[in-house]
Amino acid sequence: QSNEFQHMIEAHTLAANFYSHLLLNTVEGEKALHYLEQRGFSRDHIEKYGIGWSLDDREVLTQLLQRKKFDMKEMERAGLCIMKNDGTGYFDRFRGRIMFPLHDDNGNVVAFSGRILTNTKEEAKYLNSPETPIFEKSRLLYNFHHARLNVRKTGKVILFEGFMDTISAERAGVMNSVAVMGTSLSDTHLTKLKRIANQLIICCDGDNAGWEAAKRFALLSSEKGLDAQIALLPGKMDPDEYISTYGGEAFTDKILGNPHSYMSFIMAYYKRSKNLSHENDVLQYIHEVMEELARKVSPIERDLMIRQLSSETGVSKEALNEQLMKKVGTLA
Ligand code: CTP
Ligand code: MN
Ligand code: MN
Ligand code: MN
Ligand code: MN
Repeated sequence: QSNEFQHMIEAHTLAANFYSHLLLNTVEGEKALHYLEQRGFSRDHIEKYGIGWSLDDREVLTQLLQRKKFDMKEMERAGLCIMKNDGTGYFDRFRGRIMFPLHDDNGNVVAFSGRILTNTKEEAKYLNSPETPIFEKSRLLYNFHHARLNVRKTGKVILFEGFMDTISAERAGVMNSVAVMGTSLSDTHLTKLKRIANQLIICCDGDNAGWEAAKRFALLSSEKGLDAQIALLPGKMDPDEYISTYGGEAFTDKILGNPHSYMSFIMAYYKRSKNLSHENDVLQYIHEVMEELARKVSPIERDLMIRQLSSETGVSKEALNEQLMKKVGTLA
């Protein structure tokens, strides 16, 4: 098994170098290189993250792995190749995609995420390696091996939902961020983060999925005993879009530098979908915030939130407090 482990990592390292070569040094890679340049990637960063290009060809990587005498059954289990339907051979899993290597905590390439060049409805934007003996999605945090030292030094870690955001943030000088592969955060992820950080800043995309993810991440973190704050983006932007629009300094100062407490976030979360000039929305908003306030908030935070709620809704602090006491009473 440890032999297989070793072979799989060797094959991924070989594949990553091959993809990188195709991107940087071949005519076939030019379109992808141009795409990355348009997104603000410098050659340095492309190299730092080991980004590559998988040709629009069914078998180039498969042939390379065969030439290097890798066991093709093993390569299939590693997620790099797929067996043809008629069983006569193998073909490449990744074709015509920008290849982002995914590293384990020791910096070994253990998987890939491949992005298409042009978003379409038919094809998934990102294709990831399947779960394999060397890659578990629920353990891997993108950039963990690079960020670890900086996280330990500062005690603080930024969590994004996509690795593009981590890469952009690093270009803006943020050296202590990691990303999950989409919108699920596992207990294993949190255990890893808790071991090296005592403060977590959650910075999800500004779209609906991102707000929902931020709420889930914040709850999971607090259950785990990690002090979490939530950084919010304007509109439906994601961190990468914000950085390309407003620059890295605005991102570190205004967004990361101004994170919300859980309660302050939750108020923004409930307010988002409402029009507070409508009485029904006001009542609903107060109800939702009260539910949260009644549960797990310090007296000081409670007082702050009541003030804010009062100024937002025009309902007196006294009335809000009275309502809250009733609610706490029914919970006790
Ligand atoms: N993701 C995925 N498959 C998809 C879409 C997303 O696996 N079809 C995962 C990827 O790991 C991605 C993360 O979810 O990094 C966040 O998704 P999204 O916000 O849509 O991607 P971005 O990071 O914004 O990528 P881009 O800027 O290239 O569109
Ligand atoms: Mn590395
Ligand atoms: Mn998203
Ligand atoms: Mn995004
Ligand atoms: Mn994006």
